[in-house]
Amino acid sequence: MNTTADINKEKLIAEKGFLDIEVDPTLDLFAEIEKLKKEKKALLIAHYYQEPDIQDVADFIGDSLGLSQKAASTDADMIVFAGVHFMAETAKILNPGKKVLLPDLNAGCSLANSAPPELFKAFKDKHPDHIVITYINCSAEIKALSDIICTSSNAQKIIESLPADQPIIFAPDRNLGAYLSKKTGRNMVLWNGSCQVHEIFSLEKITKLKIRYPKAKVIAHPECEEPVLRMADFIGSTAGLLKFTRENPADTFIVVTENGILHQMQKASPEKTFIPAPPENSCACNDCPYMKLNTLEKLYLCMKYELPEIRMDEKLRLAAKKPIDRMLEISAKYGL
Ligand code: 13P
Ligand code: SF4
Repeated sequence: MNTTADINKEKLIAEKGFLDIEVDPTLDLFAEIEKLKKEKKALLIAHYYQEPDIQDVADFIGDSLGLSQKAASTDADMIVFAGVHFMAETAKILNPGKKVLLPDLNAGCSLANSAPPELFKAFKDKHPDHIVITYINCSAEIKALSDIICTSSNAQKIIESLPADQPIIFAPDRNLGAYLSKKTGRNMVLWNGSCQVHEIFSLEKITKLKIRYPKAKVIAHPECEEPVLRMADFIGSTAGLLKFTRENPADTFIVVTENGILHQMQKASPEKTFIPAPPENSCACNDCPYMKLNTLEKLYLCMKYELPEIRMDEKLRLAAKKPIDRMLEISAKYGL
C-alpha cells in the first residue's frame, strides 16, 4: 500500500519532474537501463520522434499504430513509454493491470490540446447523425466521445470501411482530415486542430531545396498543410516514410516531418542522404518540444523509481477503450 510520503513524492515528480535528483555522470545509462528492463520485466517502447539515444535503447520503435499494437500484445509487467502523454495513456487504456510509465508527464501534444472535451462534445452534439473518427493524438476524454480511433497508417482504410453515405466527423487534425477527404472523396466535417510542428515547414525553402536537389524525393507526414503535401512525392505515417526511404531507389530525400525520424532512416540506409525540411524561421521548431522533453536521464530515473505513472479513472478508461478496440479490430482485418 502507498504511504502518504510515497503519494507526496509521486505528486512532486509528476508536477516538477526529477529536478532535485542528480544522475551520477559516470553512470553508463545504456547499461543501467538494460539492467532495469530485465530486473523489472519492463518493455521499453519509443516513438520515432524520440532522441536517438532513447531510440537506441528501446525494445521497440514504431509509429502510433505500431506502438499501440505492441502495447496491446505485450506480456511484460511494466510498459515504459518514451513518447508523449496520449500514447502512454493509450497503453494504459489497453493494459489497466500493468504499470505504465512516461519519463516526463508534461510531454503533451499541441494537436491533443487543440480539442478541449467540453467544446468537442458541443460540436459533436450539433452533428447527431455523424460517426466520430478521431486521430489517436487526443486525450482519453476525447477518445471516450469518439466511435473509432485512427492513426495516419490506418485512417484511410477505416474511413473506407464505412458505408459511402455515412456522414463522418473527423478530429482533431484539420490537415490530416482535409488530406483524407481528398483521398477518399468523403466530405467529412473537420475539427479545426493542428500540430504545431507540422505546420511550421516553409514551402518556399522546400521549393528551393527541390531546385538544388532535383532528383531528391520529397516525403511528408499528412499532418502537414495542403500546399506542402501537394509538393510531396510520398505521404505517409512515420513508419510509412521510413519504409519508403528503405525501398525507393532515390539517394536523396527531403524529409518533411519531425527530425527524430531521420535517425532510423540514416541507420537503415547509411548510403543515402536525408535532408530535414526547414521551418519558416531559424528556430528548431521541427523538433517536437513535447517529444523532446524525454531524455535518457529522465528515462533512467523513471525506470529506477517507477515514476511518473499514468493513472486513469476506470469509467473513463472503459469508454475510451471501445473506439481503440474498433481501430485495432479494423486494422487486424486489413492486415495493418
Ligand atoms: P505517426 O508516428 O503515427 O505517423 O504519428 C506522428 C505523430 O505526430 C505522433 O505524434
Ligand atoms: Fe503532437 Fe505534433 Fe508533437 Fe506529434 S509532433 S506529438 S502531433 S505536437
